Amino acid sequence: MSNLIIETINVTKTYNLGKPNEVTAVKDASLQITQGSLVVLKGPSGSGKTTLLSLIGCQTKPTRGEVIILCKKVSKLPEKFMNLHKRKHIGFIFQHFQLIAGMSVLDNIVLPLIPEGISPKERSKRADRLLEQFDLGHRRQFKVSQLSGGEQQRVAIARALINNAGILLADEPSAHLDSRLTSDLLDHVKQLKRSGHTILITSHDPIIYQHPAVDQVFEMKDGQMIS
Ligand SMILES: Nc1ncnc2c1ncn2[C@@H]1O[C@H](COP(=O)(O)OP(=O)(O)OP(=O)(O)O)[C@@H](O)[C@H]1O
Ligand SMILES: [Mg+2]
Repeated sequence: MSNLIIETINVTKTYNLGKPNEVTAVKDASLQITQGSLVVLKGPSGSGKTTLLSLIGCQTKPTRGEVIILCKKVSKLPEKFMNLHKRKHIGFIFQHFQLIAGMSVLDNIVLPLIPEGISPKERSKRADRLLEQFDLGHRRQFKVSQLSGGEQQRVAIARALINNAGILLADEPSAHLDSRLTSDLLDHVKQLKRSGHTILITSHDPIIYQHPAVDQVFEMKDGQMIS
């Protein structure tokens, strides 16, 4: 497949290797994701979804196996280069959004750009485009703690997009959302897919994995891929 963007080959992640509390969270997981698709990773609690997502997201290295992102074997790269690859290509939407409540909307959105050494002017220019896209312009200087749930969700999406990453990873994004916010989230996700992003979501919410815009569903059980 030529337009493969994410691939894992027999990826295994064992935490606390060799210790009494050793846990193999992901075992021999192989998957392939093509560019521009919307993919859901589902499975019961503890099945290894977050761990696999963090391997794909270059947040941790596999114990065995390979993670390939945009043709680069990231799991073989020294940490520094793996981090560079991550910052360039991957955006994250975290479960509880992980926004900084006491900071402004603008400062939260530009956070991923700080290690890039991008000038404040350029940061603010990029942020303004996203603030407009997500209808947050009037909240630019508000603290995150002063926002509604839906506004916070849009700030989290904008932050994930600020580095112009083509790959978006979202870990249980609907876990604490009511049905209206889940549906808003799916609207945003559909829009992002239309604009060419590749999106991988972990979820055990049928509203998400049964959604018509989803191209592929992978299922995990006890650390293994079962479909
Ligand atoms: N940092 C860690 N150290 C040790 N064990 C861990 C660590 N992170 C996860 N685990 C273990 O690995 C297994 C898989 O965890 P993971 O968080 O990947 O599952 P999950 O499918 O995302 O679950 P949930 O749906 O509850 O979020 C679990 O048994 C968990 O206890
Ligand atoms: Mg999880």
